Order: sequence, then structure tokens, then C-alpha cells
Amino acid sequence: MDLQERLVFFLVGLFLLQLFCVANANLVFPVESKFKGSVENLAAIKDHDAQRRGRFLSAVDIPLGGNGRANSNGLYYTKIGLGSPAKDYYVQVDTGSDLLWVNCVGCTTCPRKSGLGMDLTLYDPAQSTASTLVGCDDKFCTSTYNGPISGCSRDMACPYSITYGDGSTTTGSYIKDYITFNRANGDLKTVPDNSTVIFGCGAKQSGTLSSGSEESLDGIIGLGQSNASVLSQLAAAGKVKRVFSHCLDSYNGGGVFAIGEVVQPKFNKTSLVQKMAHYNVNLKDLEVGGDSVQLPTDIFDFSNGRQAIIDSGTTLAYLPSTVYDQILEKVLAAQPGMKLYLVEEQFTCFRFDDNVDDGFPIVKFTFDDGLTLTTYPHDYLFLFKENMWCVGWQKSIAQTKDGQEIILLGDLVLSNKLVVYDLENMTIGWTDHNCSTSIKVKDDETGKVYAVSAHDLSSASTVIIGSVLTLLMMLITMLSS
Ligand SMILES: *[C@@H]1O[C@H](CO)[C@@H](O)[C@H](O)[C@H]1NC(C)=O
Ligand SMILES: *[C@@H]1O[C@H](CO)[C@@H](O)[C@H](O)[C@H]1NC(C)=O
Ligand SMILES: *[C@@H]1O[C@H](CO)[C@@H](O)[C@H](O)[C@H]1NC(C)=O
Ligand SMILES: *[C@@H]1O[C@H](CO)[C@@H](O)[C@H](O)[C@H]1NC(C)=O
Ligand SMILES: *[C@@H]1O[C@H](CO)[C@@H](O)[C@H](O)[C@H]1NC(C)=O
Repeated sequence: MDLQERLVFFLVGLFLLQLFCVANANLVFPVESKFKGSVENLAAIKDHDAQRRGRFLSAVDIPLGGNGRANSNGLYYTKIGLGSPAKDYYVQVDTGSDLLWVNCVGCTTCPRKSGLGMDLTLYDPAQSTASTLVGCDDKFCTSTYNGPISGCSRDMACPYSITYGDGSTTTGSYIKDYITFNRANGDLKTVPDNSTVIFGCGAKQSGTLSSGSEESLDGIIGLGQSNASVLSQLAAAGKVKRVFSHCLDSYNGGGVFAIGEVVQPKFNKTSLVQKMAHYNVNLKDLEVGGDSVQLPTDIFDFSNGRQAIIDSGTTLAYLPSTVYDQILEKVLAAQPGMKLYLVEEQFTCFRFDDNVDDGFPIVKFTFDDGLTLTTYPHDYLFLFKENMWCVGWQKSIAQTKDGQEIILLGDLVLSNKLVVYDLENMTIGWTDHNCSTSIKVKDDETGKVYAVSAHDLSSASTVIIGSVLTLLMMLITMLSS
């Protein structure tokens, strides 16, 4: 790794695991504002229209497609409208990163086709009457870069650059335009609403984000905690509370994804660890079929207890090797003498003809405040083909700089649950839920409670084992430094 990259890693530090921004031209390494503490209030980017409290809303319903199972494409995406008039864009939903960006017109490396079956659209500022370039002297820009950009002059755009874990990148400049989304205004009823937001207009993509990938989409919507996220921008504009939830349906694909306070189903919560780039929670205990697993003392630990990262952009679940070994031993002990196969050189598989929920134990995580996360055999085992089942638990192959292994809980354990991220109160909670059924979300302004239904955008499903492991790949990149 060269000096420049080392500097970035130094600045980003251990916390910023997935995403960093680099001014591409002139060696400014501003990185995320969130750990610098001096960033201006993003309320400055409030749009005048949006300040009209009359349109205040809290229940936003976002259609969700895709299927997070390891034997599918391991990818959840949603459709958003951008521009005036609005055009549709399909973006991957990622709680592990912060920004929204889409492929832009003029991009030569951007995908034009997707194996997922939808039409891809390049965002064209010229075709939107409301599109404006965000200048390098704009508040948003100086906040993001934690100060003025060197060499900034009038009419110069504010650049963005993101490197994801698998080494793929997107670079371009920030644009401000309308985002259109559905607002719940009755049971299972929505109306379109909009607000202006700042997002990345991608001029150059590389790696899995460039043309030629089967799973290409128009971009990524990051649902991280940063003030630059769409959620924070909408909140700063008075449009929403910083509360969102997802229910990822691994049976049928798709599920529910909503912004706003969830009142039904009921769920228990735990505190999110403060000042983390990701959604981290403190792990207290882990049991397999009622047997405690010995947790190592040295897992991802910031003198604040053992932490696990909750990340919907990761397909599987990654555990320190000693924990993984114990889980696997206890799981497989339920069926002694079973012949094991290694599939694709990485998955432990076996033949099983009966109901896996009757044949294997439940894996139960307990977090602070007694919040438990129950993972059933049908969640952590996936059907590879015919009667061949594979174990979804994975050994973390990444460590922090101090040699601490990381617990990373992805869609494997998050699917078929309603997961609620409350950034107002810094809590996360979940409960088992049939994601094909609706949830009830409260409209902040009126206090009314509306049912939000399950949507599924996709019918296509590609079979690729262990694909979009963005965070994991990032960890490898980061830690191999
Ligand atoms: C983010 O915005 C909030 C409210 O607008 C502000 O209080 C906070 O200081 C900002 N955080 C950072 C890290 O800039
Ligand atoms: C934004 O919403 C308002 C009110 O519904 C509507 O009149 C306007 O056309 C919308 N603008 C865009 C760009 O969608
Ligand atoms: C919340 O936790 C309590 C105590 O552990 C438990 O009895 C209850 O079933 C949980 N509620 C939900 C919705 O998971
Ligand atoms: C945050 O906590 C406060 C006080 O406990 C509560 O009144 C409020 O409803 C919570 N906010 C959300 C969005 O749950
Ligand atoms: C979930 O709900 C749907 C619709 O009510 C139903 O058809 C399906 O069987 C349920 N799935 C499970 C696993 O209970």
C-alpha cells in the first residue's frame, strides 16, 4: 500500500470500517466528518420547501426487492425517484455505508444492463429542471470535508469518492435534486412525496460497481448514521424522524423497509454503541441449543464490552474462529455421524431430508438490556440443492489491527425479523416477524398509525454463492494493510 493510502487508513482509523471519502484531485483526505465533531449542522442544507412543516411526515414506505439468501444474489435493493420530473433508480440498500449515489450520464465505466432484470438509468442533470451542482464552497461540502477544499474556486464541483471493501470505487461530484418517495397516508396506501437531497453523481465506477457485473444496479443508498445520509438529510429537512426499519424476507425475497416509528409488531431494544461508524451492539452471551458458547475475551472490544456489528449489506454472519468452531461442533453434534462435504471450497454442507428445524438447535445471541436474537436452523442453514444443506455461519477472516476478531451479523441472522434502527434514541431492536405481512408505522404529525405492506420488486433470482459481501471484503482490504 502506498503512502497516500496509509494516510487515509491512519485518518480513518479502526472505527471507520467500510466507507471513506477522498477528494480525488488534490490529496485532501477529509474523510468522514463523524469523528471530528466540528461539522456544521446539516440543517444548513435544508431546502426551503422542506421547511414547510405542513408537509412533515414520519411514515415513509420504501418498496424492497431482492433476496439476501446466500444461495441467491445476496442483495437487497429499493427503487427511488430522483429528479424533476422524477425517474426511477434501483439502489442497493446498505446500512454499512452512508451516502446515496447513482450512475450518471457521461460515465463510461458504468453498467448499462443488469442481470437482475430491471432497466438501468443514468442520472442526467440536464433532464431535471431542479438539478444543481453542489459547489466546493457549499456548506455541505466543507462539512463533509471538515474544512475548505484546497484549490476550491467558484463553479468548481464538490467531489466525492468512496472505496468499498472489495476495492470497488465510485467517484464523481455531489448534486442536489429532488428525491421522490412514498408516504404512508392510510392503511396500505401511499402518496408520493419529495424533498431535495444531496447525493453523488457517479462519473467513474470500478470493480463490482462498473459495467459487466451481473448484479449491477443504479447505485447504493447508505443508511449509516452520518449527517450526510439521505435519512439525516430528510430529518434535517423536517420530513422524517431518524428511525427506520427493515424486514428482509428470505423466503419470498423483498420485504418491508420503512422510515418512521414502528408500533406493531412490538419489539425489544438494546443501546447502540455511541460514536461508531456502524451499528454496534454489546454481546453478552451466546447459546447453541441452550448450551453456552465460550466467548473469547479479545473480540472486537473497545473497553466497552464485546461488540457485534449489525450490517444488512453483509449476506452471512461472521464469527471469531473459536466461536465458529464451537457453534459448528454443537450444531453438527445434533446429527452425529453425518457425512460432511465442502462446497465451493468454503461451505460446510451435508445431506438432510427432514425438517432442519427439528434436526438442529437454535442459536441465541443475548445483548445488553437482555435483548435476544434467535437464529433458527432454517435461517442459518441454507438449501444449496436438492437435499444438500450448507451452514451459513462463517469464520471471520478479518481482524482488527490488535488481532481482535470481529462479529459481523448480516442478513443470515437479520432476515425474517423486523429490525428497527432508532437514531433519535440510539437504540436498535428486533422481533421475529413474517416479512410478507405488514407492519404498523406511526405518522409523527398526525399521530395516526398506518399499515405498511410488504413489497417485492423482483421476480428474478440469480444463483451465486456468497456474493455481495461488501463489508467483509472491505475488512480484508483494510486489514491486509
Ligand atoms: C449532525 O447533525 C446534528 C443535528 O443537525 C448535529 O447536532 C451534530 O453535531 C452533527 N454531527 C456531526 C458529527 O456533524
Ligand atoms: C413534489 O411534491 C409536490 C407536492 O406533492 C408536487 O407538486 C411536485 O410536483 C413534486 N415535485 C417533484 C419534483 O416531484
Ligand atoms: C421482550 O423481552 C421480554 C423479556 O425477555 C420477553 O418476555 C418478550 O417476549 C420480548 N418481547 C418481544 C416482542 O420479543
Ligand atoms: C425516544 O425515547 C423517548 C423517551 O423515552 C420516547 O418518548 C420516544 O418515543 C422515543 N422515540 C422513538 C422514535 O421511539
Ligand atoms: C407469511 O405470511 C404469508 C401471508 O400471510 C403466508 O402466506 C406465509 O405462509 C407466512 N409465512 C410463514 C413462514 O409463516
